[in-house]
Amino acid sequence: MKRIAVLVGSLRRESINRKLARVLARLSEDRLEFNILELSDLPLYNEDLWEGLPPAVPRIKKQIEQADAVLFVSPEYNRSFTAVIKNAIDWGTRPYGQNVFSGKPAAVVGTTPGAIGAAVGQNQLKSVLLAANAIVMGQPELYLSWKPEQFDDEDRIVSEATRSFLENWVAHCDQFIERVSGRP
Ligand code: FNR
Repeated sequence: MKRIAVLVGSLRRESINRKLARVLARLSEDRLEFNILELSDLPLYNEDLWEGLPPAVPRIKKQIEQADAVLFVSPEYNRSFTAVIKNAIDWGTRPYGQNVFSGKPAAVVGTTPGAIGAAVGQNQLKSVLLAANAIVMGQPELYLSWKPEQFDDEDRIVSEATRSFLENWVAHCDQFIERVSGRP
């Protein structure tokens, strides 16, 4: 079972990206163990805070360190990924030399109600992850134009076309992590 640290780019309760993370967790529960990280208590990055570190920082860094891979599930805000994600990446890459993303397999997915489903924000996130020295999965891409009727209240997929699309993504993601991390 591969352990996946999941960073969701939206903090709101009814987030469709949080829902997508839960749907993927359910769909892949036979091979991937999702740990959706709590990011709401992570302060904005401030170098001074290293003098008295808020507990969220070491907690999140450890959860990422212990994972076999990292999955980002982010909405697109103004044609980029969200500040919640950027802030978590900034904390994770510091102090210099203690970058928890370095060499880590990473995948990026996301959904918006719009027609192009977070595509632009995902491209920007991938380039930031390359700078953080993560090993980024290129294909298949997962931009989802959100339609609530595709899912039920228990995070199961109702639409067969969506199921087949997401299952294909999970299979490739699983193989990618195995190839990069060597973990069966
Ligand atoms: C948005 N939204 C949005 N959608 C999109 O497809 N492209 C975009 O650039 C933006 N920009 C944007 C900026 C800001 C500040 C907000 C709050 C929203 C709409 C967004 O996709 C929608 O609110 C999603 O529901 C947000 O995801 P969660 O919170 O439901 O996961």
